[in-house]
Amino acid sequence: MSIDAAQKQPSPKKKTGGLAGITAGETEISAAGGAHNLEYRGYSIYDLAEHAEFEEVAYLLTRGELPNEEQLRAYRSRLIAQRDLPQSLKEVLERIPANAHPMDVMRTATSFLGNIEQETGTHDEDAVTDRLIATYPAILVYWWHFSQNGKRIECTTDTQSVGGHFLTLLHQKHREDSHKKAMDISLILYAEHEFNASTFTARVITSTMSDFYSAVTGAIGALRGPLHGGANEAAMALISRFSTPEDAVAGVKEMMAAKQLVMGFGHRVYSEADPRNRVIKKLAKKLADNVGDTKLYPVSEAIENLMWKEKKLFPNLDFYSASTYHFMGIPTPLFTPIFVMSRITGWAAHIMEQRTNNKLIRPSADYTGPATRPYIPLEKR
Ligand SMILES: CC(C)(COP(=O)(O)OP(=O)(O)OC[C@H]1O[C@@H](n2cnc3c(N)ncnc32)[C@H](O)[C@@H]1OP(=O)(O)O)[C@@H](O)C(=O)NCCC(=O)NCCS
Repeated sequence: MSIDAAQKQPSPKKKTGGLAGITAGETEISAAGGAHNLEYRGYSIYDLAEHAEFEEVAYLLTRGELPNEEQLRAYRSRLIAQRDLPQSLKEVLERIPANAHPMDVMRTATSFLGNIEQETGTHDEDAVTDRLIATYPAILVYWWHFSQNGKRIECTTDTQSVGGHFLTLLHQKHREDSHKKAMDISLILYAEHEFNASTFTARVITSTMSDFYSAVTGAIGALRGPLHGGANEAAMALISRFSTPEDAVAGVKEMMAAKQLVMGFGHRVYSEADPRNRVIKKLAKKLADNVGDTKLYPVSEAIENLMWKEKKLFPNLDFYSASTYHFMGIPTPLFTPIFVMSRITGWAAHIMEQRTNNKLIRPSADYTGPATRPYIPLEKR
């Protein structure tokens, strides 16, 4: 390459900023972007969201294939049987203050479970995965009710699905089937997404031959940030600031002028649309109509139209998830932990995949610090 041509190349730092566009490994679990749009083990998320239940998708991701009827029945029974929390975990949850972030509660509970139900030969990665899927709704909601009003709830319910169980625990009564179905669709959409930041974190930790709980605890920490899972809460904060579409347009224009990020928009992998948005937006509209909403949905659409018109940015899954959860009566601080309840399935699949063909993940960096220099003795500095 000539010197001129080399000078026209983007600097390595710019090119690899945030590892954008860098392929960091292979996976059989999902394909995101390009002609695939989004597929879990070859199945389109549109088919899964329309026809499957979350437990089928959890089984597909963690076991490799969709279950038949008998396998699904047995899997569901196994999850239901493991929902209750150990007393010592309840005591830990009761000590976490009410002003803690619920994502910190999920992280602490995962880490604590790793102490009392360690990953061993008999309590292997499949067993740990099932246990976390089964207990996450109660972990979150037990702490929530205790910290909000001192109430110690029962951690088991007779609601069959993971999403329905969560809603029953939260509202302390059965919810209508439309809400259970909406939860199921949302959990399916959030379940897996290739080498996103939290999954990659889980794989890096796994690659050191660390344990399953450490990988999931680290993944929860990565998901917590507003550039990743925390965006659904930030999107709710945004849309609830405005009373009308006109207010929203004016407010978001001001944000753009101030070069602020509008949470719930844009994506590292997709350039024109997030395929999951089509599904979640339809769901948000249906629930908005059911509750007679005349504010949040129109405000959301006004922001969506403006962002596309002005910046060619599109809503990601988090944007309409915010109003969807709100219309189901879910408090905003619980939005990102719901993501954990779902994404544990994808994380688990990636932890297992990393283990089957492990190689330490340890990239290198281009050094840009000071040139080599002599050591200056302390008294001469
Ligand atoms: C998801 C996200 C981190 C992807 O980031 P990325 O691939 O690094 O994209 P970039 O930050 O390089 O964005 C390219 C340009 O679009 C802008 N942009 C991207 N997302 C934006 C947003 N949500 N609001 C305003 N501007 C945005 C960037 O500021 C940048 O502008 P510039 O070229 O003038 O500097 C980013 O879109 C974002 O911060 N979105 C908001 C948080 C969010 O919703 N996260 C959930 C993701 S599923």
